[in-house]
Amino acid sequence: MAMGAGSKQPRSLAIRWYPARHGSFTLIVWCLAALVMLLILHLFISRKVEQIVRGIDEVEEEAFPVKLARSWRNPRVARRKGEHRTLPVVDEFLVESSAVHHAFFPEGEVTMDPVNGGNDRRYLYYPGRVWLDTDGKPIQAHGGGVLYDEKSETYFWYGENKDGKTYKAHDKGPDRVDIVGVSCYSSKDLWSWTNQGVVLQGEEKNLFHDLHKSNVLERPKVIYNNRTGKYVMWMHTDDANYTKSSIGVASSDSPTGPFTYLYSKRPHNCESRDMTIFKDDDGKAYLIYSSKGNSELHIARLTDEYLDVTDDMRRILVARYREAPALFKSGGTYYMITSGCTGWAPNTAKAHAATSIMGPWETLGNPFVGGNEIYRSTTFFSQGTFVLPVAGLPGLFIFMADRWKPSDLRDSRYVWLPLTVGGLPDEAADYSFMFPLWSRVSIYWHKVWRLPEKSYRVT
Ligand SMILES: *[C@@H]1O[C@H](CO)[C@@H](O)[C@H](O)[C@H]1NC(C)=O
Ligand SMILES: *[C@@H]1O[C@H](CO)[C@@H](O)[C@H](O)[C@H]1NC(C)=O
Repeated sequence: MAMGAGSKQPRSLAIRWYPARHGSFTLIVWCLAALVMLLILHLFISRKVEQIVRGIDEVEEEAFPVKLARSWRNPRVARRKGEHRTLPVVDEFLVESSAVHHAFFPEGEVTMDPVNGGNDRRYLYYPGRVWLDTDGKPIQAHGGGVLYDEKSETYFWYGENKDGKTYKAHDKGPDRVDIVGVSCYSSKDLWSWTNQGVVLQGEEKNLFHDLHKSNVLERPKVIYNNRTGKYVMWMHTDDANYTKSSIGVASSDSPTGPFTYLYSKRPHNCESRDMTIFKDDDGKAYLIYSSKGNSELHIARLTDEYLDVTDDMRRILVARYREAPALFKSGGTYYMITSGCTGWAPNTAKAHAATSIMGPWETLGNPFVGGNEIYRSTTFFSQGTFVLPVAGLPGLFIFMADRWKPSDLRDSRYVWLPLTVGGLPDEAADYSFMFPLWSRVSIYWHKVWRLPEKSYRVT
């Protein structure tokens, strides 16, 4: 019995085992198939991401998103017409109801969202998309610049808060928004930004205050002064007609403010409109401003406290009509990106270089690579504001620009693109007898891109 049962037991077990093994076998086959499918899917997705995100200095050509009449297409037409004329396609871009405008400011499009954007989109820059802060609100930091604060190991992005109604002060006046103040955002990785609030407030009541809301505050930049321990902000202050054309100065003990507004003046008794400041490795800082009806730039050293300019001033790029200067240094050489002077309308940027910051400055030409000819002659429909060195990667920078939307300035977008310094320049420099003393400055168009992984400062 026992034996029989014993012999029966394994047998029945064996019988049961066989179908069971057969079942498991099917299961295993299915599991394997599913696994292979998942693997293929994974490969497909990751390859797709790789296809979208090209190498930083990989040339990415792109057709213009709207079909255009022939006469609108040709950037040479605008070049023949002179530096202050815009391309017909740019005039079209500025008309709110046009297809070109719509292509660059689509409604209900996907945003750059550090909180709800999904992990596969993390650290991806989409130039021109609405960029949300960590509260889910569009970043308000136009015409801005970034400070890397060594004490807190944090990046701070300062810019114009344009969160108000766009209107004209009078018939012939430019589109404007009342002064709200200077916003500050903080980040550890240059991608996910936390709002630190308005760190320099506009003035509501006092009509005679430089920052009264009816005036103009543009292009704020902040640098840190090691001697005084102060964060110093310089900006362009003006009246609504841009006739005061002055610089303004503010300072704070903390990068997140509040900044105390100090004064405004015309540096060297000259007009001063678009401007930037630049802090060199040796701690000396400089002001660069458009002057004389924006026909030339002036560069001057700041005092040791960074609160005023010294008398040491040089006129550079005379009669070239350049504005929106953004200065940076690479391999001991100074470089600058400037735009032409066409108001809110985009135009062709140029790169310049100098071995001494006080000049002479030479023009290297158009730094743009990729996209299409219209993109390259319109700074990708934007205007530069700052060039940010990427920590730990010499020769790699971020070109920061604004895609202005004069019909609703608060919805102006940010165009951040990689900028590299290296290789031979396209145009022979003016004074170097054909010997290229400078490296080429290249700003690469990308629909989407990301920084090399080791430059992330993820905490
Ligand atoms: C700006 O110019 C307009 C027209 O010329 C004038 O009416 C207005 O008073 C000016 N505003 C300022 C602030 O100068
Ligand atoms: C300024 O201070 C920072 C840190 O506080 C330091 O890393 C930097 O080298 C200093 N720069 C100069 C020019 O002294």
